[in-house]
Amino acid sequence: MCGIVGYIGRMRSDEILLKNLKKLEYRGYDSSGIAVLKNNEIIVRKESGCIANLEKTVEEIYGSCGIAHTRWATHGKPTKENAHPHTSSDNEWAIVHNGIIENYGELKEDLISKNISFSSETDSEVVAQLLSVEKNENLMERVIDVCGKLVGSYALICVNKNTPNTLYLAKQKSPLYVGIKSGEVFVGSDPICLSGMVDNYYSLEDGEFCQASSEKLVFFDSYKNIINKASVKLENINYNSGLGDYPHYMLKEIEEVPSVLRRVVDVYKQSNILDKIDISNVNKIIIVGCGTAYHAGLMGSKYIERLVRIDCSCHVASEFRYSDPIIDDKTLAIFVSQSGETADTISALDLAKSKGAKIVALTNVLYSTVAKKSDIILPVCAGPEIAVASTKAYSAQITVFYMLAKCLQNKVFSKNVDYFGEVEKLSDALKQIDFEDVRELSKVLVDKKEAFFIGRNRDYVTSEEASLKLKEITYINSSAYPAGELKHGFLALIENDTYVFMIATEKDLLEKTLNGAFESMARGGKIFAFSQFDLKKYESENFKYIKMPNLNEEVMPILSISYFQMLSYLTSIAKGLNPDKPRNLAKSVTVE
Ligand code: G6P
Repeated sequence: MCGIVGYIGRMRSDEILLKNLKKLEYRGYDSSGIAVLKNNEIIVRKESGCIANLEKTVEEIYGSCGIAHTRWATHGKPTKENAHPHTSSDNEWAIVHNGIIENYGELKEDLISKNISFSSETDSEVVAQLLSVEKNENLMERVIDVCGKLVGSYALICVNKNTPNTLYLAKQKSPLYVGIKSGEVFVGSDPICLSGMVDNYYSLEDGEFCQASSEKLVFFDSYKNIINKASVKLENINYNSGLGDYPHYMLKEIEEVPSVLRRVVDVYKQSNILDKIDISNVNKIIIVGCGTAYHAGLMGSKYIERLVRIDCSCHVASEFRYSDPIIDDKTLAIFVSQSGETADTISALDLAKSKGAKIVALTNVLYSTVAKKSDIILPVCAGPEIAVASTKAYSAQITVFYMLAKCLQNKVFSKNVDYFGEVEKLSDALKQIDFEDVRELSKVLVDKKEAFFIGRNRDYVTSEEASLKLKEITYINSSAYPAGELKHGFLALIENDTYVFMIATEKDLLEKTLNGAFESMARGGKIFAFSQFDLKKYESENFKYIKMPNLNEEVMPILSISYFQMLSYLTSIAKGLNPDKPRNLAKSVTVE
């Protein structure tokens, strides 16, 4: 994970670097650091914790060029010592790194045997040390030589104290972008760092390098040949518009859901993107993602299989990529990723592509790696999502899956059912909900150590996502179970006053789901039943009923998850936590 930035130019490099680094805090906030070249010295400042901590300690450090880093710890604790930039022992080089150097152990041992001493526990420091040990006088070539020794993934920005107007860039499996305008160079892990600064930018491919100076950018391949690269016009890059009057991004993003759903409908109504998905030669559909995107995929597979009657399964990317999956050119593979940069999802995509599958990206970031590698892009249209826990992107992803399934159903069964209208009604209904019941519930949930979610079919998927949201930002140990599975283990966990959230939005399964709730209640469980159906008659001390608006059953999952997004948010606040930056997590998981 981690985010890296670089800058060459006339402006105050500390300010530019920190401003751009903050845009990358979604990639990790364990520590941060900055290095600036000044009078042929490399000046480094680092702090543990989020970038705000670094900002407090960085006095003005001007300089023609600099690099900075925000870290999500992979090797070594999130301490100041392990923060980047890392410098070589002779202070000639400083580097920032995103990725994992898998063979750092043997490289480190070898360097130690040459009397090089290390000052951090990180894998990344070997790169700085190797750069000072290598002999090639041409410094760009030296960077290429060092990268030839590395196994793993890296985006690297390196500076040498004797070349104050130069950044050396390298890319292997982690994204890196560079742009130049009027003598200023901007580098970053995400083009949002270049937004507003340059008109065009370059996206480095794996095995490519760049020597960047204020005069020009020169690109190289791994054989040290100069290569020509085409630039990309910098457009469609939205960066967040700030918090406005909201205390947290998460609340802002939950409240944006109704307008996001309207936007999704508008975009898909006006284009024929869904029609491009042709399944006439497809015998199965697979969906792959991680975290919340995986849950969106699970919901998608429920919609597609039920409505289109085609074999459709959903897989966790990290499992899928090592499972030797059965895929051929009759497979349609849909990769779900808010960021489009999740390392496991990208590797799973590469695998499916190599086996001939047709690739569809369902992503919120249209210039992302997942989008670039796909045959068809289904935009999520959620706008920038800043809070680590995904909310509006999930709601938009399952809405796109719903519309895709309905569109395919129309095609396969020669129907002409309108589905946009259902989403529009849903958007209106969502706007009316005041979440008062949920606010009350958060006040009692705050003291709980554990909670359970139960549901059947689509409601089971909602249970999984609701449970993930709660544990991500409240640290309450929560799990989800299919409501029909309770007798196979779950009931052993029930004690007096154990909280069980029941979700029931499918009429045919209501009685069955209620049975599971009653079985839990009989053993002391306290039920919180979320449903659009009238359950008033069951209300008691241990059975609380939260009535949801009554909409078409098929779209209820898009509505019901909002209750749990809000419940998690309010509980997190009640616990005095920061819901936007949960401990140990990052928004974009760019390492395996
Ligand atoms: C991290 C984030 C989650 C997200 C998951 C997948 O775990 O904290 O919110 O669902 O990565 O991210 P993606 O960008 O691929 O959807």
